[in-house]
Amino acid sequence: MSKKLDLPIRPRRNRQNEAIRSLVRETALLPADLIYPLFVHDKLEDEPIESMPGCKRWSLEGLLVEVGEARDAGVKAVVLFPAIEDVLKTPGAEECFNAEGLVPKVVAAIKAAYPDVAVITDVALDPYNSDGHDGLVVKDAAGQAGVLNDETVHVLCQQALCHARAGADVISPSDMMDGRVGEIRAALDEAGFENILIMSYTAKYASAYYGPFRGALESAPKSGDKKTYQMDPANWREALREAELDVMEGADIIMVKPAGPYLDVIRALREALELPMAAYQVSGEYLMIKSAAADGWIDEEAVMMESLLGIKRAGADMILTYFAKAAAKCLTAKGES
Ligand code: PBG
Repeated sequence: MSKKLDLPIRPRRNRQNEAIRSLVRETALLPADLIYPLFVHDKLEDEPIESMPGCKRWSLEGLLVEVGEARDAGVKAVVLFPAIEDVLKTPGAEECFNAEGLVPKVVAAIKAAYPDVAVITDVALDPYNSDGHDGLVVKDAAGQAGVLNDETVHVLCQQALCHARAGADVISPSDMMDGRVGEIRAALDEAGFENILIMSYTAKYASAYYGPFRGALESAPKSGDKKTYQMDPANWREALREAELDVMEGADIIMVKPAGPYLDVIRALREALELPMAAYQVSGEYLMIKSAAADGWIDEEAVMMESLLGIKRAGADMILTYFAKAAAKCLTAKGES
């Protein structure tokens, strides 16, 4: 027999069984931490999304069932992404503030069916804009596309007001224009919507992980990329700068997006600021797990839960994830609520 080591400190003591491990566990993921992004279209049938297995473009009817199931599993918030018909897409994106449009109709229907579910709406022009950019596009003499800032913010305010009138609880600008949080706050307040929250995409990176989402909405930019408004993946100090501006402009919740490849940014913002923080596990992060699991290379449920726990441990209070319903069900089955 080999000699016992003289080891008064043995970290493994705290790991010896599940009862002990659960006492010393530092991070807990709860169904209520999860926000469910849902795609909706103006059709009667639900349509599977090829680029995002397990996700659908929901009809209104199908969406209401899905929201109900997620709610029963403990998910208390959803965020809506509309797939807009091509004929409604224009350079001015006017459909985004049509009071009779798809998003206002869906928001009102969800609030009527489930008043206790928080409905979050995405504010940006890309689903409505024939150029596929988050803002209004101008072309210079050489035909190069540029995205206008201040003019776009004006349209975003109209879009936010349209969502507010329909009953949205939270407005979530994902466009990355400068000054939009402050202007949307002012527009909401002036119209008497001072209780509607703003969840700002504070540090939204120009990421290749959004590919499957753009497939889901057919919303990829028609020309150029989003690098003049979304952040450079190389930067984290710039995220602090964006966050300071959002705090000054009145954001209620800040967000980092994507989540998994940007855990250091989540941590940095958590340490610097007091505001609640969301992180968005985006379509590419979801798809990588789904497809590796479909090929039998990884255990889907275990990797799903570990990926979400990692994001929470890094400092996010809440997570937008296409796994929201599945993860909540998994947690409920384990007795977490
Ligand atoms: C656009 C928007 C995007 C996502 C959410 N809102 C795509 C983009 O910026 O091109 C991506 C979400 C995902 O990939 O899951 N305003």
